[in-house]
Amino acid sequence: MSYKKYKPYGGINIKDRQWPNKLIEKAPIWCSVDLRDGNQSLPIPMNVDEKVKLFKLLVAIGFKEIEVGFPSASNTEYQFLRTLIEDDLIPEDVTIQVLTQSREHLIKKTFEALKGAKKAIVHLYNSTSVLQRRVVFHKSKQEIIDIGVTGAKLLMKYKDKYPETDFSFEYSPESFTGTELEYSLQICEAILDVWKPTSSKKVILNLPSTVEMATPNIYADQIEWFCRNVKMRENIIISLHTHNDRGTCTAASELGILAGADRIEGTLFGNGERTGNLDLMTMALNMHVQGIDPKLDFSNLYEIVDIYELCTRMKVHERHPYAGKLVYTAFSGSHQDAIKKGLKALKDENNNYWDVPYLPIDPHDVGRDYEEVIRINSQSGKGGAAFIMENEFGFILPKAMQADFGNLVKNKTDLLGTELLGNQIYDLFEEEYLNLKSPNLLKNYTIQSVQNVETDENIVNIKALISVNGKEMNISGVGNGPVDAFFNALHKSNINGYNFISYDEHALGSGSNSKAATYIQIEYNDKRYFGVGVSANIDTASLNALFSAINRKS
Ligand code: KIV
Ligand code: ZN
Repeated sequence: MSYKKYKPYGGINIKDRQWPNKLIEKAPIWCSVDLRDGNQSLPIPMNVDEKVKLFKLLVAIGFKEIEVGFPSASNTEYQFLRTLIEDDLIPEDVTIQVLTQSREHLIKKTFEALKGAKKAIVHLYNSTSVLQRRVVFHKSKQEIIDIGVTGAKLLMKYKDKYPETDFSFEYSPESFTGTELEYSLQICEAILDVWKPTSSKKVILNLPSTVEMATPNIYADQIEWFCRNVKMRENIIISLHTHNDRGTCTAASELGILAGADRIEGTLFGNGERTGNLDLMTMALNMHVQGIDPKLDFSNLYEIVDIYELCTRMKVHERHPYAGKLVYTAFSGSHQDAIKKGLKALKDENNNYWDVPYLPIDPHDVGRDYEEVIRINSQSGKGGAAFIMENEFGFILPKAMQADFGNLVKNKTDLLGTELLGNQIYDLFEEEYLNLKSPNLLKNYTIQSVQNVETDENIVNIKALISVNGKEMNISGVGNGPVDAFFNALHKSNINGYNFISYDEHALGSGSNSKAATYIQIEYNDKRYFGVGVSANIDTASLNALFSAINRKS
């Protein structure tokens, strides 16, 4: 019954809401708060060098607004900001943002820390929620408005002391989702009255879901209501800053964009307080896979993950959307089969659009390989091992052989109870099928081929020295091709009982030094056996395949 101690959040009174009928059509203004909100939540906050490294990464990804810290909060934060400015690390097209509380000594220090910056966003916040007003601040609504307005005035005062910097302002009614909507509007408009935004000097109003308290549609309603009701909408940038307490902050931010927001704050991989901030990478790639340019570059996601993990000491989970080590990998047989067919269809159909079952994004778009798409364990089907053999080693197994090899792989994974890696799969293939030389061995052979041009008939004479269970013998035969001639030679020497079933071949690799791979299936006592031969000479490859099949039977 412990659920009974929770109050339902309730709905938002908004008529004819528009956002459910909209679609995301363009990228928002992105602002990374990795170096502030993300950093504040780390067990070991980043040092100056780590922050510089992460800052450079954020710039390389394409962020144009980066909240770099809370410079009045600690010496490291202050030093980092000074390093960015003094070492000239901020590109022309990037604006740094800093956070401050509404207290004069903190605001003063914040402006001092920004000295010499070309552009900066100063981000002022105070908590406005019903709960915090009551239990933390013990203040009335008006007193909370006064805190915000005092801070807003101080920003105006200190801005004038640093005319060399082009300042913009942002205000967050912190804990917006725990605040009455009308009251949030009231406090934001009181701030606007101080800052007097224009269309050329807009103010950012950031409406944080500091704690995620309800379903994403409720947040969207709140944002639409706010956008519809706020004055001077055209002079304001509405920004969203969602946390992930309910695990739905990506949806909340996406619906918030539909509801009219212009800007998104978040962090790489969702690092941040408690369950984290919005994951900017996920939201950006969600756009990418809808055919929208996200204006952020995650094409080398592996490297991004490495740098992020190094700087933050956090780990990106194996199942993390887009970035996890396992998210492009299918172990299940039916998924592997569908992916394999989808990739083939994509090639064959020359389709303009990516459309592969179980792969919502082309792994290549984020610097991942097709090799990792299919990995083999006891859950995998016959197609998986064949996919690895083709993609990693160039062997295009005939259909019937895929099942044969698939079973061998399955037995091995069952036996070992582990995954089989690509090279282990190749080893098994080699051990079972490829150029097998025992107990029977082809030592040498000569072929004489006579082509009757008139009848288009080919007659092949073969003479071979073979070793059967260690005993050498010379055999010879005639046929319409080397394999046929060899079969006949075996019959003639009383090596009987083998029926030819199928033959396949393809080039391995390309160019003049490519080899031939041949696959032969034979039948013996109603059982079928595959063998594979590889050689620079197609006849040798075929005879090796035949011997491999015979040796498998043995
Ligand atoms: O989550 C939050 O509300 C914040 C504010 C400071 C914007 O991080
Ligand atoms: Zn936050």
